[in-house]
Amino acid sequence: MTDSPSDTPFPHRHLLAIGGLSPGDINHLLDLAETYVELNRQIDKKKSLLRGRTIINLFFESSTRTRTSFELAGKRLSGDVINMSVATSAVRKGETLIDTAMTLNAMHPDVLVVRHSESGAVKLLSEKVVDCAVINAGDGMHAHPTQALLDALAIRRRKGRLEGLLVAICGDILHSRVARSNIELLNIMGARVRLVAPKTLIPDQVERMGVEVFHDMTAGLKDCDIVMMLRLQSERMHGGFFPSVREYFHFFGLDYEKLSSAKPDALIMHPGPMNRGVEIDSSVADDFGRSLIREQVEMGVAVRMAVLEVLTRNLPAPDPRNL
Ligand code: CP
Repeated sequence: MTDSPSDTPFPHRHLLAIGGLSPGDINHLLDLAETYVELNRQIDKKKSLLRGRTIINLFFESSTRTRTSFELAGKRLSGDVINMSVATSAVRKGETLIDTAMTLNAMHPDVLVVRHSESGAVKLLSEKVVDCAVINAGDGMHAHPTQALLDALAIRRRKGRLEGLLVAICGDILHSRVARSNIELLNIMGARVRLVAPKTLIPDQVERMGVEVFHDMTAGLKDCDIVMMLRLQSERMHGGFFPSVREYFHFFGLDYEKLSSAKPDALIMHPGPMNRGVEIDSSVADDFGRSLIREQVEMGVAVRMAVLEVLTRNLPAPDPRNL
């Protein structure tokens, strides 16, 4: 099931990006997450591993899947989970990120799960906190490491491996932290990555990341094992990147005709939220034989439990008299 031995510890204080992780680190997280998939399917889903630990979810940007799954993950491991809503926090009164970090430090959390619209903001915050692990839940266009890990787990469970697979990542690559983290992870694990998008939605010199670039879906999807579609991130677009949504769907929306170019057993993925009829046809998205989209959400809880487990292992242990 695994691509290389995974009995390594996880020697990292924070999880800010996929770059810097080894194949052993990634397999260790995926193997641990695998055990949580089984636990989460049982009636009693609770473990006491995070008793005495405080996890703060600090989301400066909207989220459904990531925030909810981190909350579930923390609670299933018996941690105390606090959701800080930026809409009602002092950030709205002009508090800086650093002042927010200092305020949170004073409350002695064990884990901060942070999403922010600016690339690099989560790393900056991680440099200001004390005795606390920081998890990047998505920063700007930079990284979304737990998304790449859950995607890898979903692929590995269905294909049995990552090494040697041909994966096409299609759509708005330019604005996508999901694409960057997936490219890094898939390269580390020995998969081959293609990017398929209009020229306007591909970053300059992206080939340096070890990918092949295509501007035509039929050519880009040819013989692929995995077709990963991305959302058009209009909230990050300033200017016209394509003539119209209708034309975008015609050339780059995934439908059965374009999918027929991939391998007959190719699987379809999407990190969500999904724009049906824009980057993906509804019937393809809902094809339960081939679409991994629901499974990706399920894997999200398991992967986040694994990440919480490995990062809290590296923190000072809670006083057993208090447990
Ligand atoms: N895939 C993802 O990050 O979804 P959310 O924005 O709902 O968290």
